[in-house]
Amino acid sequence: MSGPPHIVVVGSANVDLTTFTDDFPRPGETIFGRAFHLGFGGKGANQAVAARLCGARVSMVARVGDDLFGPATIANFEARGIDARHVLITPGASSGVAPIFVDRSGQNRILVVKGANDRLLPADVDAAAELLLSADCIVLQLEIPLETVYHTLRFARRHGIRTILNPAPGQALSLAEVADADYVIPNETEAEALSGMPVRNLDGARACALALLERGLRRVIVTLGAYGALCAGPEGCRQVAPYAVEPVDTTGAGDAFIGSFAFFLAGGGVEEEAIARANVYAALSTLAAGTQTSFVTMERFEAAWAGRG
Ligand code: RIB
Repeated sequence: MSGPPHIVVVGSANVDLTTFTDDFPRPGETIFGRAFHLGFGGKGANQAVAARLCGARVSMVARVGDDLFGPATIANFEARGIDARHVLITPGASSGVAPIFVDRSGQNRILVVKGANDRLLPADVDAAAELLLSADCIVLQLEIPLETVYHTLRFARRHGIRTILNPAPGQALSLAEVADADYVIPNETEAEALSGMPVRNLDGARACALALLERGLRRVIVTLGAYGALCAGPEGCRQVAPYAVEPVDTTGAGDAFIGSFAFFLAGGGVEEEAIARANVYAALSTLAAGTQTSFVTMERFEAAWAGRG
C-alpha cells in the first residue's frame, strides 16, 4: 500500500441534539436541563471522522435529507477532507437526527430517528462499486437497512475487501449474513442483542464472544468501556487493557474506537496493538462534550499513547 489506507464507510449520518441533564420529565411535566449541544453525528459519519482524524483517506456512502441538515452534513464531510461524492440528498426525506441525553457521570441515552438513512439501498452501494473496490477496509453499522449491510458484506467478500461491522444499535441479525465480515465489533448491549446471552461482566463477554464464533463469525471484539476490549478468534480470547480516564461525555466513544481501529489495522498494524491504540483513542474522546467534536487529533493521540502507563 502506498500512502494512507483508504477506508470507505457505508452508513449513517445524523445531527445530534445533546441535552445534559440528570433528571427526566414525567408525562405532562417541564423541567430544566443543564446544557445543550448541537453537532454532527451518526455512527457511520462519526467513524468516518475518527478514521480521517487519524490520517486515513476516507470516503462516505450515505443518504441525508432534503432539509437544513442535509447540505450542512455534506459540507461537514467536505470540510474534514472526507470524500462525500456518494452522500446523496434524498428528496422528501428528513435527515437522521438523534436526541441524546447525557447525565453527570457522562453516560448517554440515545434515540435515533433514521430518516434518510433508511433510504440507503443496495442500488446505492452498487452505484459506488468503483469506490468500494479501491477500499482497504469497508466499515458498516446498523443505522441503515439491514439488506444494504448484507449486500455490502457480500460485495466485499466477493472482491476480497476487508470489512468491519459495528452491529449498532443492537438488534437481531442474520448471523449467517454477517459471517462475511472480517470483524464484528459490538459493545456489551449489542453483544447481548446479537447472541441472546447476558453480557454483564468479562466472563459474560468471553462466553458471548466464543458462542458467536461457534455460530460462524470470524473475529469478534467486544468493547467494554472501562474494562478495555475483549478480542476473540479461533485461537481463543484475550482482553486488551483499557486507558483510564474520567469521562465527561461517552457519546461516540464506540465510534471513535471503530474508526481509529479501522485506520490502525488497515494501515498495517498488528491486531492487538491496533485494539490497544483504539482503546486510547476512544477514551480520549470521552473527555469533551459531543460526538465528532470530542474526537482528538493524531498529535493528541500520540502524546497520550507515548505517555500511557
Ligand atoms: O454512537 C453515537 C451516535 O449514535 C450519535 O452520534 C447518534 O447520532 C447515534 O447515531
